[in-house]
Amino acid sequence: MISTDQLLVSINGILLGTILLLFALLLYNRRRRKAGEPPLDNGWLPFFGWAFKFGKDPLKFLNLQQKKHGDIFTSYLAGKYMTFILDPTQYQYVIKQAKHLDFREFANEFASRTFDYPRITEAKFPQLRDNMHRIYKIMQGRPLDKLTDSMMGNLQHVFKWKFSQATDWRTEKMYQFCCDIIFEASFMTLYGKDPVADGHKLISEIRENFTKFDAKFPYLVLNVPIALLGATRKIREELIRIFFPNKMEKRSEVSDLVQTRKNVLDQYDVLQDHDRAAHHFAFLWASVGNTIPAAFWALYYLVKHPEALKAVRKELDHLLQSTGQKRGPNYDIHITRDQLDSLVVLGSAINESLRLCSASMNIRVVQEDFALELEGDQAYNLRKGDIVAIYPPTLHKDPEVYEDPEAYKYDRYIEDGKEKTTFYKKGKKLKHFLMPFGSGATKCPGRFFAVNEIKQFLAVIVLYLEMEMVENKILKQDNSRTGLGILLPESDIKFRYKPRKLVS
Ligand code: HEM
Repeated sequence: MISTDQLLVSINGILLGTILLLFALLLYNRRRRKAGEPPLDNGWLPFFGWAFKFGKDPLKFLNLQQKKHGDIFTSYLAGKYMTFILDPTQYQYVIKQAKHLDFREFANEFASRTFDYPRITEAKFPQLRDNMHRIYKIMQGRPLDKLTDSMMGNLQHVFKWKFSQATDWRTEKMYQFCCDIIFEASFMTLYGKDPVADGHKLISEIRENFTKFDAKFPYLVLNVPIALLGATRKIREELIRIFFPNKMEKRSEVSDLVQTRKNVLDQYDVLQDHDRAAHHFAFLWASVGNTIPAAFWALYYLVKHPEALKAVRKELDHLLQSTGQKRGPNYDIHITRDQLDSLVVLGSAINESLRLCSASMNIRVVQEDFALELEGDQAYNLRKGDIVAIYPPTLHKDPEVYEDPEAYKYDRYIEDGKEKTTFYKKGKKLKHFLMPFGSGATKCPGRFFAVNEIKQFLAVIVLYLEMEMVENKILKQDNSRTGLGILLPESDIKFRYKPRKLVS
């Protein structure tokens, strides 16, 4: 007779044996590197591979893998084989491979799931993607002048409304401060005004919902079901409803950009009202989701480094003087797009903060087995369905490209009084040395508008306000948005400001 104890021991033994067998089978069946392929690192954890190590600190993980395998290697991350290209002198060879390396599939799937509109397949929505991309020209070249002027007006409108009462030092949380101003000014610039409602109140309600949705954004991208994310589905629905046709039609002073986008979407009868509104919502996210944290880091570093703030202020004061403008409660500042372009010190300070805080992953999906040809007769065989990735922080923090890469140097991008664009790796001049906006066909179409917005925001703040940090802590970055764009700070931080004295 077998006793219960003996039976339990046998069952446990069988279970353990089965688990070990499964584990061994999984390990045995893992992909092996074939001739001509990049070095392969499966990690030791079945299914997850290196996912946890990567998620914890991607830069550290990639630098360790680079030491082990060289500049190009394939890592297994939670069901995906990702080939990382870490040598920036090779980036252009990857970026130009649009035929073999596609981005649409990936972006399409993630955007449709996150913002709740149907996937943009060519069969159902012929030319929709191309038509949308044509509109983005409104954010570049001369048409950008109009958007830039409108943003300047709206920024000052928000600014005066918010600071008209301020006479002495006022303490605020810096991220919240940036979020309030950038969100309201961008929203009015792009989506115009509601002629009936109290604009400030309405937009601040939208902003609060937006912030709640944005906090869950990384989970949605990771494919966590929205049902598990508390009120996120309801909040997303409320945000989408703002852009329903009956609401959009009532708005005045809508930008040409949003109006043209609306006209394009209206041509597709197969889209429901909800789907069109969801597209507008996605655009709202694209237009402020990264700009707010980018503006925050730019302001944070300036206030934290008084010598940088002083240099930027000197440049701005000089611009006002040379254009015969005065600052004061009764004046509006006018800075044209060309003048914004000429602000080399401000531009360098913004580039430097973008270098330190941007973490967007450039991702392409391999369309068929092919050999990726790189410089110097190097070629690597890649397999269909794998992902090729460029992770710009490895470039942005490379000490060979950027001396003392962890330090903030506001004038890093200035040379002989002009914008510096010469950075080297392995003795070669880099074509891509700063990549906060992605690359190639998927490069952010709003990048010029975004940098202008941040310049305008800082110009208004720096010209009108004295600022100091109140808290002395060193802010860390929250890694949960790694791969998705600009990182958020781990917490908010207090600073104080008061109106700058007017010179008569
Ligand atoms: C600092 C601010 C910004 C950053 C860092 C940023 C970054 C990015 C990145 C990394 C991408 C994806 C590129 C890729 O897939 O490789 C992207 C796409 C996009 N961005 Fe931006 N962006 C910013 C501001 C803006 C603004 C202000 C707008 C519009 C007003 C905008 C509109 C878009 C759009 C529409 C796309 C998708 C383009 C497509 O469909 O291919 N972005 N952005």
